[in-house]
Amino acid sequence: MIYLSTPIYYPNDRPHIGTAYTTLVADAVARYWRLVGEEVYSVTGVDEYGLKIARAAEDHGVTPQEWVDSIVGHFHETWALLDMSFDDFIRTTEERHRNTVQPLLQRMYDAGDVYKGHYEGPYCVACEAYYTAEQLVDGKCPVHKRQVEIHSEDNWFFRWSRYGDRLLEHVAANPEFITPDTRRNEVIGFIQQGLEDISMSRSSLSWGIPLPWDDSQVAYVWFDALINYVSAAGFSDDPDRFVKQWPVWAHLVGKDILRFHAVLWPAMLMSAGLALPRQIAVHGWLLVGGEKMSKSNATQILPSDLVPTFGADGYRYHFLRDVSFGPDGNFSWEGMVDRYNADLANDFGNLVNRVLNIAVSYRGGNVPAVSDHGAAEEAVLVATAAEALAALDGFAEFRTKQALDGVWRLFGAANAFVEATAPWHLAKNPEMAGRLDQVLNAALESLRVGAVLISPVMPSAANKLWAMLGLPGGAGDGPLATTGVFGTFPAVTVTKGDPLFPRIEVP
Ligand code: MSP
Repeated sequence: MIYLSTPIYYPNDRPHIGTAYTTLVADAVARYWRLVGEEVYSVTGVDEYGLKIARAAEDHGVTPQEWVDSIVGHFHETWALLDMSFDDFIRTTEERHRNTVQPLLQRMYDAGDVYKGHYEGPYCVACEAYYTAEQLVDGKCPVHKRQVEIHSEDNWFFRWSRYGDRLLEHVAANPEFITPDTRRNEVIGFIQQGLEDISMSRSSLSWGIPLPWDDSQVAYVWFDALINYVSAAGFSDDPDRFVKQWPVWAHLVGKDILRFHAVLWPAMLMSAGLALPRQIAVHGWLLVGGEKMSKSNATQILPSDLVPTFGADGYRYHFLRDVSFGPDGNFSWEGMVDRYNADLANDFGNLVNRVLNIAVSYRGGNVPAVSDHGAAEEAVLVATAAEALAALDGFAEFRTKQALDGVWRLFGAANAFVEATAPWHLAKNPEMAGRLDQVLNAALESLRVGAVLISPVMPSAANKLWAMLGLPGGAGDGPLATTGVFGTFPAVTVTKGDPLFPRIEVP
């Protein structure tokens, strides 16, 4: 079972292209595993408690519950706009979550990992994180570059310090636990500096989940938020599923929440006696003009700003092809237009038009199912298709670019194949009718394989192409080991359709 998670997002605003990036990678990877034939459970959701949300509600003159209820719809709308296919959407205000958080915190308490203490120090409300004076940059939060607040209260503490050695052992014994390696090294360095116990509750806030042993305090929002991964797996409301589904295959996270996921979360799981996730996969930030996107510097771009021009598929393609999972990536409108026109309108779109046109013009859309693809020209195509299929493994390691590069080599080879075999010449010579059938069949078969291979990234274009090819079911039906292999295009009727990716004219 592939259990895959995104972070749960703060519903303080609409999702932007940065938050959509994590969600999109998770969706493409989930679709890939479904295509392979694996059972998948992919989850996203919202992180509704905490001071940040309570303050946003207060600023808008509504209760926190009213506030989150008014925002959550934007997440559903955005994920639908981008063709996301999640199995679950969790809200931390749900019963199933409270019924998971309380027993898990109780387990940590029973393990002797919780004690009462006094907390005083800098707190960044935007991160919902405690900092030490040394971690601040010019006295400000290192992530948001905003003023921190000094918080001082009697809280419950979690004995994080107890887990340093066990965490280091786990990281050493499981090289795949944190990826990429740069992030793994960062985590090792952080743990080696020594972990300090961390406040796990708030007494000055009521917008949260009460501690089971002290209902005058609520759980610190990260202690409740991280547990969402256990809640969504069915811990309290579907224990049979939980047994099947736990532990997580991969948590996808941005680099700003690395420590919470790679250091705090495993310690909490160890304390609560649950297995650790197989992997924490960490990506960088999407930058606009070299800066992390933010509302305050007016660089915030929403998916709804881009989808009307590029379509959901064009959007998905760009971010999965041009942003490598790991380092920071820069967003630019010009870059997105260039990529769309070059790869989607030209390479792929023209190939589809051309091949369907000739199949319809020369054979009325009915190309016989010839299986002989042994000619020298076809050999290149068959080999490139096999490499493209192999490159799709990149999805298992979040290397979406690698997977797409492979498919684009196939489209390049198919374009070259059509040029080299020149069906328009073959069609003029009745003696070449058999060769024309072979060529048309191989060209259509490349489109069929291409539709399968792009389906995790561009599900809608893949299915439109599938329908034009006259094939039954959908391009993503799988299993990939069968449908992704270059064979014989079946004797069906293909039709021409509207261009999949009309060119974007730049004024
Ligand atoms: N609520 C916490 C996560 C709790 S998970 C148990 C949170 N929420 S968030 O909405 O602030 O951010 C969620 C994710 O969005 C993070 O992984 C963060 O890295 C990502 N991004 C936010 N802005 C981003 C960019 N500009 N670029 C890429 N990802 C960014 O943190």
